[in-house]
Amino acid sequence: MRVLGLETSCDETGVAVYDTGRGLLAHALHTQAAMHADYGGVVPELASRDHVRRVLPLVRQVLAEARLALTDLDGIAYTQGPGLAGALLVGASVANALGYALRKPVIGVHHLEGHLLSPLLAQPRPAFPFVALLVSGGHTQLYDVSGVGNYRLLGDTQDDAAGEAFDKTAKLLGLPYPGGPALARLAASGRAGVVTLPRPMRASGDLDFSFSGLKTAVLTLVRRAEAAAPLTETQKADIAREFETAVVDVLAAKSLAALDATGRQRLVVAGGVGANLELRARLAADVARRGGEVFYPDLAFCTDNGAMIALAGALRLAHAPQGDYAFTVKPRWSLADAGVDPRAA
Ligand code: KG4
Ligand code: ZN
Repeated sequence: MRVLGLETSCDETGVAVYDTGRGLLAHALHTQAAMHADYGGVVPELASRDHVRRVLPLVRQVLAEARLALTDLDGIAYTQGPGLAGALLVGASVANALGYALRKPVIGVHHLEGHLLSPLLAQPRPAFPFVALLVSGGHTQLYDVSGVGNYRLLGDTQDDAAGEAFDKTAKLLGLPYPGGPALARLAASGRAGVVTLPRPMRASGDLDFSFSGLKTAVLTLVRRAEAAAPLTETQKADIAREFETAVVDVLAAKSLAALDATGRQRLVVAGGVGANLELRARLAADVARRGGEVFYPDLAFCTDNGAMIALAGALRLAHAPQGDYAFTVKPRWSLADAGVDPRAA
């Protein structure tokens, strides 16, 4: 089954074609980051208008790369939520219009389900069941995944997401946006153990997270140091190193605890913070020591993309009845409500 996937939930237009037999055939992405940078954040109306401009040219580009015509598609998937309402409506209406014209099934996909399943785009593919650590700018969650459509939330952040903490800490250290990658680069030249930051909730006995205290601890550290003199690059790098290690310590400890709690052997890491190389190295070592395996999407599919939506849509369409092209978007939508399909488990 060959499915076209459209991702338009925020500031990235992602389009891809996934074939359940042959894998990913083509994908393309347009990021609006530069357009929103002047405003210091995503402007919803500008985002919607840019998706309108980009989505059809990207569809044509992806089909040309895959050497396919629209009529070769077996279905169309789009991000139905959560996200910005106007941005979501672009993908939803284009997908349904194409489906109606082609008389092919159309399916709305949960954005986080796309992230959760994105490691299935890589080789080797993790087999179900697995524990998934979803770490992005908006989420820090652990799920027990027993099959497509079968997701049990094990733990969640009580305040900031891990990516958000990276971004806010980077800002405190005067690094450019997006802060996560910049902070990670700086941390690479920092020394271990020169400063000390807390590991929030590492020993809380549950699988929840909290990162806002860590950001406050960095603020205190910076203020105290700056009372004497402006921070040197060396001091900044040492703080970045300790911050990254603190986040990685907590994420790794909770991921291992989730494997213990569920008895699973496989850990899947998804979302933008999954691009962090220290996190990858730590999890690989810790999970291997335990006799398990860690799976990641390729770096390109850690952040928002159309490939994960095409993949999730293709896996779902195998079980979904054909719709009537009536659609709605869900700007707020919990993954736990995304529908459990026991046949897909
Ligand atoms: O999944 P994503 O692209 O967007 C959503 O939040 O949905 O994740 C973006 C987040 C940002 O907070 C960014 O700073 C963080 O992922 N990030 C990183 C790295 N690359 C991206 N954080 C730490 N280390 C990285 N290498
Ligand atoms: Zn995302």
